[in-house]
Amino acid sequence: MQIAEFTPAHASAEELEQWREVLNAMTEADMPGEPRWHGDRMRDYLSITMPNERRLAYVARDDAGRIVGHANLLVYGGEFADTGIFEIFVEPGHRGSGVGRGLLRAVARRASREGLRAIGVEVIATTPAVGFYDRLGFGRAVVENRHLLRLADVDWETVTDSAGRLAAGYRLEYFTGGLPDHLMERYAATKVHLKAEPAYNVGTWRGSADARRLRDSLATLSARGLRPHLVVAIAEGKEAVVGLTELVVAAQRPTRGDQYDTVVAPEHRSYGLGMAMKARMLCELREAEPQLVDVQTWTSLDGDAMAHVDAELGFRNDVQWFEYEADVAELVRRLG
Ligand SMILES: CC(C)(COP(=O)(O)OP(=O)(O)OC[C@H]1O[C@@H](n2cnc3c(N)ncnc32)[C@H](O)[C@@H]1OP(=O)(O)O)[C@@H](O)C(=O)NCCC(=O)NCCS
Repeated sequence: MQIAEFTPAHASAEELEQWREVLNAMTEADMPGEPRWHGDRMRDYLSITMPNERRLAYVARDDAGRIVGHANLLVYGGEFADTGIFEIFVEPGHRGSGVGRGLLRAVARRASREGLRAIGVEVIATTPAVGFYDRLGFGRAVVENRHLLRLADVDWETVTDSAGRLAAGYRLEYFTGGLPDHLMERYAATKVHLKAEPAYNVGTWRGSADARRLRDSLATLSARGLRPHLVVAIAEGKEAVVGLTELVVAAQRPTRGDQYDTVVAPEHRSYGLGMAMKARMLCELREAEPQLVDVQTWTSLDGDAMAHVDAELGFRNDVQWFEYEADVAELVRRLG
């Protein structure tokens, strides 16, 4: 078994296909209910990052040179430059023989060379990755509930009705692919309110709290093959952005939507904007992404302002997600 650095931007189509096959074999074995990976835009997905970030990749090859495992480490810039997020996947037939440990060693050593203090990884509670990271000394930093909404189960009449129930003085606007320039500044200013939400792990929130970062983030999503859908609540008169919700559909997993940030500015809460925005999003998706099968979202265990809205729309909590973290120096010492 050989572990080597890998550059998706210059990889052959065959190597990218092997990368994808590992993901699908892992999905089949560990989480068969989750969607499979398509080959569309895989190179873009793996190689493009925000301007101040880098994604470093490693592969494990068998004796015939075939990729049987891979890892990637996302190194942030700016205020989060001391931490990184990584993923490791090993083809089920090659597990239990040190491939995962070897890939993690490569990631840890690289993180150390990059000057990172800590690295983190997201793990689904029901998969073997939990035992692996427990064994290798990682600690559970965050636990979240994943919620899934199957679009076939949506009561469209109720949702359409909810999307239209708006208090006087507000309107909703829907955008896909990006945001018009005149809204960037106001949208980013509203997003900053997420920083104060306990559910967003104060201090580690890595969202786009200024217009430049927001512009970069939307451009990066599109360049990676991830289609952003945005619903914005506007207070009429002042034309202020007072609420927003974001959902992304990846070309690489087009049947699954990821519902990310939803926030209403504090002084505009209790007017039903959260429900109306999320309901409107579902109605728009029905038109814009007809292939979509389900939407996932996450809430913290301590409760989340949106949990009751999600439940009403039909989201069901199915599994926990753990965010594991390790100190880089300690990890390098442990793995050698
Ligand atoms: C987790 C994963 C990477 C482990 O790969 P692997 O090649 O089987 O791991 P290794 O053989 O290198 O095992 C390293 C150590 O972890 C232990 N380990 C591995 N899986 C384990 C499990 N499920 N439970 C307990 N211990 C485990 C091994 O026994 C070994 O211990 P040792 O070195 O002290 O003897 C692999 O199961 C996988 O790809 N899972 C799916 C990936 C995934 O869900 N990722 C989500 C976030 S990225």
